[in-house]
Amino acid sequence: MNKNFYITTPIYYPSAKPHMGHAYSSIIADFFARFKRIDGFNVNFLTGTDEHGLKIQRAAEDKKIEPLKFCDEISQTFRDLSKTLNLTNTDFIRTTEKRHKLSVEALWKELKKNGEIYLSKYSGWYSVSDEAFYSDNEIEDFEGNKQAITSKSKVEWVDEESYFFRLSKWEKPLLDYYNNNPDFISPSSRKNEVISFVKSGLKDLSVSRKSFSWGIKVPDDKDHVIYVWLDALTNYLSAINYPNTDDSLYQKFWPANIHLIGKDILRFHAIYWPAFLLAAKIPLPKKVYGHGWILSGEEKMSKSKGNILDPIEIVNQYGIDPLRYYLIKEVSFGNDGNISQERLEDCINSDLANNFGNLCQRVTAFTIKNCDSKIPSQVRFENEDLKILDNFKLNLDLIRKKIDNQDINFYIDFIVNSLFEANKYFNDQEPWNKKEDLLRLNTIIYTTLEIVRKISFMLYPIIPESALKALKIFQINEKQIEFATLENHNYLKKNSNIKKIEILFKKIEKKND
Ligand code: ME8
Ligand code: MG
Repeated sequence: MNKNFYITTPIYYPSAKPHMGHAYSSIIADFFARFKRIDGFNVNFLTGTDEHGLKIQRAAEDKKIEPLKFCDEISQTFRDLSKTLNLTNTDFIRTTEKRHKLSVEALWKELKKNGEIYLSKYSGWYSVSDEAFYSDNEIEDFEGNKQAITSKSKVEWVDEESYFFRLSKWEKPLLDYYNNNPDFISPSSRKNEVISFVKSGLKDLSVSRKSFSWGIKVPDDKDHVIYVWLDALTNYLSAINYPNTDDSLYQKFWPANIHLIGKDILRFHAIYWPAFLLAAKIPLPKKVYGHGWILSGEEKMSKSKGNILDPIEIVNQYGIDPLRYYLIKEVSFGNDGNISQERLEDCINSDLANNFGNLCQRVTAFTIKNCDSKIPSQVRFENEDLKILDNFKLNLDLIRKKIDNQDINFYIDFIVNSLFEANKYFNDQEPWNKKEDLLRLNTIIYTTLEIVRKISFMLYPIIPESALKALKIFQINEKQIEFATLENHNYLKKNSNIKKIEILFKKIEKKND
């Protein structure tokens, strides 16, 4: 089995500071990366910034700063955000880097060589905010202006010489590909919109611009810059050293397992990108997953709408793990989701402080007091112990399968249930009434501790910092977290010392409590 795994986030526009939507995609990608890693995979996890094009050029002009300098600053805030969010990305790519430019030029030349690019003239609508071309039936009037129907962003008229990519030619191969690879576009609810767009007829795509200069120049025609989406999408390849296909990174990690993106940029990833790759005879990524939007009220949270929640402020106020947990649990993955500080606080109090934090505290305090601070060595599992322990073992393969289908909702429900069952077990077994039967008392304590270990392993991809704190009880470190060991009930080192645990989550006092 191939034990390499390549996951990517979109590369974000450094036109303004990062917001919660960016944090969301990155946190979800990190969840998958961490899960795969503890399940024994060698993970390449890429994120970065998309720095060329008119949108960035204009944003820099507004601030009267050179575009590169402008990007240097804001790209750094995205890099910093990766740290703040505790991401385990293995690379951070900027499209203004030389390695990226070389890749984009190589891909262009390959397309040119294959007869996929020709010179003509583009007359039509363009949205700078989306960096997208729209046809007449995709725009509407709004307050005397024209805007894109889907994104509501303003469009302007473009009339200039341009290179075109023969997208129309790939209509049928794309439809065949979707058909033969039913998971390529995920979730499946988003497949139809893509398929019907392709079926409605693909026109050749303008892939260069002449009226501004902030971008990668077309090889052999310095009057043109390469269309920013052709430039940006190539990041997934440039980060693994394309065109050096002998390179070990490329060998190990291409095709990517999953491009995780928001549904706003599905067309670029599910149509243009595979068409470019088909035309360049490069294998296609295995999956493009378009998740839903974080909403603020009823609207998409976005820079251009100005309704953003600042992830840094939230992390400063509550810590990173509560934010990660909340976004992963409360936004039903794949769908849009409303978020609020109120619900975040509820989540911290009920799931994190009451259910997880409390369980850890109770069982360690009990062990310290009644078992000489040691993991009990004499145990004899009864049916009720095995029932709760086996629940993990019996579901390992199912959990893996659900993760490969991006069913985060299943994963988190499994944890929430396990926590509920664990607390119930501890209460029902009443170890405090078993002081006459030490074997039973020891078995209950051992079982509960082992469940804390199992749940902490499963929580690690979601709340890494807190899970690691909990695992300090057993002196288990990050490298020792292996999903496969959930099969084992005798994992804990019997007779070894239990460490007292710091408070994992402080309960938030709520005004109306
Ligand atoms: O589109 N809810 O960059 P971008 C959830 N540079 N996710 C959101 C979101 C929201 N409200 N707002 C943004 C670009 N996102 C291009 C991508 S890739 C080769 C080039 C997330 O800065 C989501 O992943 O506009 C979305 O697709 C992405 O940020 C768009 O970021
Ligand atoms: Mg955007």
